[in-house]
Amino acid sequence: MNKSIIIKKTIKPFNKVINVEGDKSLSIRWALLASQAKGKSKSFNLLKSEDVINTLNCLRKLGIKVKLKKKSCEIIGKDLNGYKYKKNLILNAGNSGTLGRLLTGLMVHAEEKVKIIGDKSLSKRDFLRVTRPLKKFGANFKTNKGKLPIYISGTTSPKPIRYYEDKGSAQIKSSIMLAALNTNGTTVIKAKKSRDHTEILLNYLRLPIKTVRKKKYDLIKINGKKNIRSFNYNIPSDISSSAFFIVLVALSRNSKLKIKNVNINLTRIGILEILKKMGVNIKLSNYKIYRGEKIADLTIISNNSLKAINCPSSMNSAAIDEFLLIFLVAAKAKGVSYFKNLSELNQKESPRLYWGAQILTKMGVKNVLKKDSIKIYGNPKLKIEKKITIKNFLKDHRVFMTSVIAALTFGGKWTIYDKDSVKTSFPTFIAKIKSLGGRLS
Ligand code: S3P
Repeated sequence: MNKSIIIKKTIKPFNKVINVEGDKSLSIRWALLASQAKGKSKSFNLLKSEDVINTLNCLRKLGIKVKLKKKSCEIIGKDLNGYKYKKNLILNAGNSGTLGRLLTGLMVHAEEKVKIIGDKSLSKRDFLRVTRPLKKFGANFKTNKGKLPIYISGTTSPKPIRYYEDKGSAQIKSSIMLAALNTNGTTVIKAKKSRDHTEILLNYLRLPIKTVRKKKYDLIKINGKKNIRSFNYNIPSDISSSAFFIVLVALSRNSKLKIKNVNINLTRIGILEILKKMGVNIKLSNYKIYRGEKIADLTIISNNSLKAINCPSSMNSAAIDEFLLIFLVAAKAKGVSYFKNLSELNQKESPRLYWGAQILTKMGVKNVLKKDSIKIYGNPKLKIEKKITIKNFLKDHRVFMTSVIAALTFGGKWTIYDKDSVKTSFPTFIAKIKSLGGRLS
C-alpha cells in the first residue's frame, strides 16, 4: 500500500464537464439506515470506496443481506434492532471515523458483546467522544484509553438521554441519533452546528424528529421505537471530492470546469463560501431538491486574482474536510490568510492542521502554525522548482489528493506516496485527473 506517483509537469488549460462519485456521508448513512428499515431498500450511485465497502461488510456480519451490483446496491433491512450475529463479533471500521462512530451508536442495543476495530489511523482517533454520551443510554463500553479497539455490551432497556454536543461533530450527533431511534422516549441533543444529513434523512423518512435551529446550535428531539420504512436513494455527488477539482481550476490558468449534480447542503458548502470570498469564480446552476438535500451543478472558471482571507471560525464546520485545499489557495492569494479554532482538524485521518503546514513548508510557503490556528503568507507568483516528497505515515487520502493538486498547479518535481489511499473516499480520482490532462507516472 505504499505505491508512489511522480508529477513533474503542471496541468495545461482545460475546459470540461465531469461527474464525481457519490457522497460518502450520504452513502454510509443510507446503508446504516436501510439496515434498520423493514425490507428492501435500493440505492444508486452509492460511493464504492473502502469506507462504504467496510460499512456494507459490517452490516453483512450483523446478519443483513447486502447485494452490491454495478449500478445499484440493495439492502434487506431487518427492522429496528434486527441484527443477528454470533458471540464475540468483531466489526472492522477500517479507516472510517463516520462508520466507526455511527456503528457504535447502533450497537448500544447489542445483545451480545461486540468488538469494534479499525486501521492504524482510526486506532489513533478519539472514541470517548461517542462512548461518553452513549453510556448514558445504559450500554457498557471498554475502550483502549478512549480509543479502538472498543468492546460494547449493549442494553436491552436503553433510556433516552439529553446531551450537549459541543465539538460541532456530525459523527457524535449522528451516533446519538442512531442510538435514539432504538430507544423508547425522547432523546434531546443540543448540538453545535455540523452537517445535518442524518436529520434530513430522518425527516424524509417521516420519523418523529424535530430540529429547532438557533444561531450557534441546533436543538434536536427524537422519539424512538418508530419503525423505519425501506427507501430508495439516488446519492448525489460528493462536494468534498468535487473540492479537489474546484481548487485545481482555481489554481490553474485559463481553465473552466463544470461538475454536475453536486450535493450543496448548506452545512457542507464552506469551501464554496470561503473560496468565493477569496475571489474564486464559482457559479451554481440547475438547482434541485432531492429528498430534502440541495443539489446543483458547479461551474468554476480560473482567474488570477486571489485574495487572502481572515476566515471566521463559524465557517469551520461546513468546510472541515476541505481545509488542506483551502490552504493551497491561501498560498497563492495576495496577503496573509488566517484560519483559527481548528483543533478538530487534528482529529481527522491524520493531524491535518499539522499536515497542512508541512505541505506549505515543503512548498516554500511561509506559515505560522499554532495549536489550533495557522497564518499563511500568500504569494500570487509562487512557482516551485525543487523536489518535494510527501509521505504521510497514516496514509491520509486527503493529504495524498491535496498534494496532487499542488503538484499540478505550482510546479516542482513531486513524489507523493500512498496512491492507494484514494480508495478510501474517491477511487476514480486519478482517472479523473488524467481525463483533464494531468500527467502523473
Ligand atoms: C462526517 C463528519 C465529519 C467529517 C467526516 C464525515 C460525517 O467529521 O470530517 O469526514 O459523515 O458525519 P466530524 O463529525 O467528526 O467533524
